[in-house]
Amino acid sequence: MELYRFLQQQGFGGRKACRELVDDGAVVLDGMPAANWRMAVDPAQVQSLVVNDEPWPLLPPFFYLMLHKPAAYETSHQPQHHRSVFRLLPWQFANLGVAAVGRLDVDTTGMLLFSNDGQFVHSLSSPRKVIPKCYQVTARHPLTPGVAQQLLEGVLLHDEQETLAATAVTLLDDYRLNMSITQGKYHQVKRMIAAAGNRVEGLHRIAMGELALGDLAEGQWRFLSADELLLLGYTAR
Ligand code: URA
Repeated sequence: MELYRFLQQQGFGGRKACRELVDDGAVVLDGMPAANWRMAVDPAQVQSLVVNDEPWPLLPPFFYLMLHKPAAYETSHQPQHHRSVFRLLPWQFANLGVAAVGRLDVDTTGMLLFSNDGQFVHSLSSPRKVIPKCYQVTARHPLTPGVAQQLLEGVLLHDEQETLAATAVTLLDDYRLNMSITQGKYHQVKRMIAAAGNRVEGLHRIAMGELALGDLAEGQWRFLSADELLLLGYTAR
């Protein structure tokens, strides 16, 4: 494969942009400045790539990542009022069709997954895939065991026909609880807490299935390993 095609595969843009990067002397491949965009490259053999002085994580055809979403970012490529979560990822990822798995509200923080593997994104967003999503809720009014019981038994949301129940609820203190849900309805946690007579002041997603956000710092992202994908019931392609 010619070098410029390899750069395209790594997300550096179209044919013209990738050829120009090499012509500008911006590409260092395996420690050697690349002078010719026609140079033959075997992607499986490449050990390192530096573009514009920035080391690039060599991407396999399909890759998967977790972002710790901060508040005031929209889960959208075309945000309306705030910045896009895609601004927190390398710009090259957008060229490779990286999409978010579901959405978090603009004020919700925590775990958001992404991939360029459409099958992964689709299967995890599908209503048929039952992956519990665990949220830490900070409430406006004190939380009681009664509220936890209501959430577990099911609450009727405004404009819904059927009740929705949490699969697990743990009271942490007077104003905070962890709750898991398996569906992904619009504003679901906020509406469930409202239906239980309280109000969400803060919402933070701490886990999806067995995969925890852990100590990933706010605004940071990292790749997911094949073992972590298995925790989500998915085998990496
Ligand atoms: N439920 C909500 O209400 N908001 C989110 O962002 C996620 C779940």
